[in-house]
Amino acid sequence: MRRPLRRTSALNVVLLLYWLCCLAPSPVSSIIVTTPPEVHASKGDTVTLSCSFTSTSRPTSRMTVDWSYRPQSGGPPMMFLHFSSRAYPPTEGQFGGRIRWQGTPARGDASISLINATLNDNGTFTCTVRNPPDVHGSTTSHTVLTVTPRVPSIRFSDVAVLLFFILLPSAVITLILIGRMMCPKKERNQSKAHRSPIEVTEGDEYGIPGYTHKEDRAKCCDLYVMDSDEEYYLKDFKKRPPEAEGYADSHC
Ligand SMILES: *[C@@H]1O[C@H](CO)[C@@H](O)[C@H](O)[C@H]1NC(C)=O
Ligand SMILES: *[C@@H]1O[C@H](CO)[C@@H](O)[C@H](O)[C@H]1NC(C)=O
Repeated sequence: MRRPLRRTSALNVVLLLYWLCCLAPSPVSSIIVTTPPEVHASKGDTVTLSCSFTSTSRPTSRMTVDWSYRPQSGGPPMMFLHFSSRAYPPTEGQFGGRIRWQGTPARGDASISLINATLNDNGTFTCTVRNPPDVHGSTTSHTVLTVTPRVPSIRFSDVAVLLFFILLPSAVITLILIGRMMCPKKERNQSKAHRSPIEVTEGDEYGIPGYTHKEDRAKCCDLYVMDSDEEYYLKDFKKRPPEAEGYADSHC
């Protein structure tokens, strides 16, 4: 008879403890304020700093909102906007004239917007909502704002990367291919081998003007032009040997 009784009371104690530690606090933290942990913006943007809250009590005229700011460099938080029945945005200081109240307390919204964000606006924005009698719980929430310079350099770097990794290699490959097509190594060597006797013997023999050894170094296309000239000269000055004619046709 005693044992079941003890068991029941022990169970009750456990249940009571469970209720105290896990269920009891929930009616106390009846207000929950939430903000995005991080907001990123570019210089000159209009940034919405959203803040929403849920409360077991309906928002009344006693409900208040405070927005404060703590610079990235540190220092104490500074309250810059107070809402109580109506919003009191800052008229001077860092955010003077740049804060708009966007909230609708009846819908649990206490958002603001920051106009013309500057690089100096980096820091932590804190939204605090009090809705008496709900004044306990997580009444505050933080948003870290990061304002970056508005850079076309992001686009520029994209273009640079594109140029570097795609266009440059393809241009190089194209150039190499064109070079190979126009000046195949074998043919160039052949042409040198074939040309030198013609140059030395016939060029010297007939005294063709402007036809010197310097032109050995000339490029393939120049050689082609020279071949035509040579042909022209040879036709004028001498009957061309048939091998040389065949060579001139096959070249380039
Ligand atoms: C934004 O700020 C810059 C200087 O910080 C100012 O020249 C410009 O007029 C401002 N724009 C607006 C819309 O307030
Ligand atoms: C704000 O943060 C951005 C990104 O980290 C940085 O580029 C900028 O210089 C910071 N502004 C200041 C005033 O430190």
